Formats: sequence, structure tokens, C-alpha cells
Amino acid sequence: MNERSNRWEQQLRERIENQTLVVGVVGLGYVGLPLAVEYARKGIRTIGYDVSTEKIAALQHGTNYIRDLDDRVIAECVANGVLEVTNDAARLGECDVIFVCVPTPFTANKDPDISFILSATRTIAAHKRAGQLYVLKSTTFPGTTRNYMQPLLEQQQFRCGEEYFLAFSPERVDPGNKVWHTGNTPIVVGGITPRCTDLACAVTALAIETVIPVSSPEVAEMEKLLENIFRSVNIALVNELAQLCDRIGINVWEVVEAAATKPFGFMPFYPGPGIGGHCILIDPYYLSWMARRYDFTTNFIELAAEVNESMPYYVRDMIVREIARQPVELRRARVLLLGMAFKRDVDDLRHSPALKVAELLLGEGVGTVDYYDPYIPTVTLFDDTPTATVLHSKPRLTEALLRRYHVVCVTTDHSCVDYRMVARASRVVVDTRNALRTVRRRSNIVLLGDGH
Ligand SMILES: NC(=O)c1ccc[n+]([C@@H]2O[C@H](COP(=O)([O-])OP(=O)(O)OC[C@H]3O[C@@H](n4cnc5c(N)ncnc54)[C@H](O)[C@@H]3O)[C@@H](O)[C@H]2O)c1
Repeated sequence: MNERSNRWEQQLRERIENQTLVVGVVGLGYVGLPLAVEYARKGIRTIGYDVSTEKIAALQHGTNYIRDLDDRVIAECVANGVLEVTNDAARLGECDVIFVCVPTPFTANKDPDISFILSATRTIAAHKRAGQLYVLKSTTFPGTTRNYMQPLLEQQQFRCGEEYFLAFSPERVDPGNKVWHTGNTPIVVGGITPRCTDLACAVTALAIETVIPVSSPEVAEMEKLLENIFRSVNIALVNELAQLCDRIGINVWEVVEAAATKPFGFMPFYPGPGIGGHCILIDPYYLSWMARRYDFTTNFIELAAEVNESMPYYVRDMIVREIARQPVELRRARVLLLGMAFKRDVDDLRHSPALKVAELLLGEGVGTVDYYDPYIPTVTLFDDTPTATVLHSKPRLTEALLRRYHVVCVTTDHSCVDYRMVARASRVVVDTRNALRTVRRRSNIVLLGDGH
């Protein structure tokens, strides 16, 4: 440890201990905004930077676009100046710690796209100063922090673990979860050097109750992928089982509930119309892409993707079969999808399987496909193609509306929907989420995974 590096470490430690540090958050989306608010609520000066002028303008006017966050808390943090939000990247120079929370999507060929991480790092590098700690939160493949971020920051006299500090710490926020939120969900931290890990743990502990250090950024990057691949594989397993149960005529939901009574060694996962969102669908591909560079095939990931991505097709077939049982031609049939968001009680549409189901139904020649989702006012089907089609959510779900459709399909089981009314008023309900489980009279209900 040389004299100089001691100084930067010491300075940061002191600021952390007496909470005079300035926290920066790059990317104010589902991950970054709750994180920024978590620090600001603790009275720590926080600067949120985003490239989106709309998001910054909204926040500056006290308008919050993340459902889980309390509007009043954000408005208060912004009004009293403890949380500043800006499009001005130069403000990052004021920060002692900068969390990077930018998107990590995949390309059309499902290869990783880390361009947002690279551009955010270049922005940070343009305004960097000695003594700063950078923490990447975006989910990505192992080696991103060390092999892609670090070279963009590193210079002579600006060395990692000496003049600046760098770590990876994956995000676990689960939008819509009422129990586990940003503050009480344990967080893993892996720094490039032990000093980086220590400092990143200390900063994280200011806002997060439980912090778990690991030996390197690569371990932290890989463990995040394991978390999401674990979910993807187990959902695929139960989706496959649902298809088998359909053939045999066993109720897969009851099977899962029965298995879940085992107090150890089992965790319930449920079938559905496919997976969506920014994480479970995309992240496994980050690892399978990386594995190919090592001449390795990740069979579990590929198989899980195959099963999960086949589910919207399976649901389309269920709906088309129910139309065929009625005296109506396909091209005159009307289908209502209940729920467009990728999961219950969220307003996140990214990669939602319900979108795919709608596109497949129209592609099959179904006359009308409408939807109702109180959280998603409009959707664009066949986006980025010449046949792009905008649909608007039906404003209200009523018995009169439900009666107009040949098939109503529950694609997302928002808890605000009256499913008894749905059962009562619909001709046929295709239920892909077991949302109508409490309904007794079931002659018009076709449940995914019970042999109908
Ligand atoms: N959404 C989740 O539930 C969740 C959970 C765990 C991990 N993650 C991971 O966290 C990361 C962020 O996800 P998200 O859901 O918050 O994404 P998001 O799209 O909601 O937000 C990302 C924000 O980054 C901004 N941005 C993009 N490039 C930028 C740049 N160069 N500089 C500044 N701002 C920039 C965008 O304008 C946007 O506001 C992803 O890697 C994701 O996989 C997400």
C-alpha cells in the first residue's frame, strides 16, 4: 500500500463513516431509481444521472414512473435537494461513489449487448477524479467489469485499487414484491482488489441491510447469472410438466402445491404463457454466449429457453382450439387477453409473453385480438416491422365487455381483476395462470396444465 493510495482510501472511508459522501447513480430505471432513493432517504446526498431527458424532467417535477416507489418520498427527496437528478454528466465528477445501473439487453441474434455499460463507463471516465469508487450493478457476463470497464478507466497514475476503486455488485430488486425491496434484499459485492471490495461493501451497507463480499467481480457476475438461470430452468421444468399433465389429465397446479408441502429440498415454480422481463429471459443468453467462446455448450440454458419460448405457441394453440369448438370462423373470432405486463401487478411490458401470444393469434388469422391491462395503456405488436399495430387497453373490464369475446385468456394474473366476474360472464376462459382457482363452476374454464 503506498502513501497516495492510502490517502484516497482513507478519504473515502471517512466520508462513508460520517456519511458526507456524495452518491452517484447512472441510469434511473427500475434498478437505479430505487437505489438512488434508498441513499437519499438516509439523508445521503445523491446525484442521479440519466441520458433520458423525459425521465429527468418527470423526476424534477416530482413525477415518479416506478410503481413500487412512493411518489411522496421521491418528491420530498427532490424538493429538499438531497436527491438531485440531471442530464448533465459533468455532475458525476462531484460523486465519491458511482453506481452504474444501465440496461443490458440482447441483440436480435440474442448475443449480449453491453454497449450501454461501455457508453456509461466512457461518460464516467470523461469526468473521473481520483478517490472515486465505481460499482457496476447491471447484469452481465463474467469478466465485464475487469476486461471491459476497467480498461476504459485505467491510466498511468489512475490505477484500480490505488487512485480509484472498482467492483461489481448485482441487483436483485423484484418489482411488485411487497416483502423484499431494495433496502432489505441481501446484496453480493466483488471488487477488483480486496480494497475495492471493502469500500464497495461499506458504501452498500449504508443503504442495504445485508452485504455479502465475494472474492472477485467474476464470482459476483456469475452468481447473478446463476440466480436467473436457476429460475429459467425451473420454470421450464414446470412448463414441460404442465404440457405432460395436459395430456395425462392431471392438474399440475395441484401437483406443485402438493410437492411444496415438503419442508426442505423443494421450491415451487409455476407454469405460464412463457417468460418475459429484462432478466430471466435475457440473462441466460449472456452465459451461453460466453460459454461458446470456451467451446462449451450450456445444455440446461438452451433447453430451458426452448421450452419457455415455446409456451406462447402452446397458449395460441389452446385458444385456437377453443375457437374451433364454437360456431365461428377464425377470421371472425374475437379474443380478449387479460394482462399484458410480463408479470402480476407490474407495469413492465418488456419481452412480455402476452405480446407474443397476441402476435401469434393475429398471425394465425384470428379476427380480433383486444386486451385489458390497467397498468399498460397501449402496446405495439410487430414492433419495428412494416405491419406494426398499436392496441389500446379496454378502459374497463365489465360483464358486457367479456360477453363480446369468443375466448378470454388470462395471460397475466393482476390481482385487481375480479376473476369471478370473468368466469361468470365469459363464454370460455383460457387460464394460463390459475387465476380462477377459487371459481367452483368450471365448465367454461380451460386451465393450462390440467388436461382441460
Ligand atoms: N428490472 C429489474 O427488475 C432488474 C433486476 C435485477 C437486475 N436488473 C439489471 O439491472 C440493469 C438495469 O435494468 P433496469 O430494469 O433498471 O433498466 P431500465 O431500462 O429500467 O433503466 C435503465 C436506465 O438507464 C438509462 N441509460 C441508458 N444508457 C445510459 C447511459 N449511458 N448513461 C446514463 N443513463 C443511461 C436509461 O435511460 C434508463 O433510464 C440491467 O442490467 C438489468 O438486467 C434489472
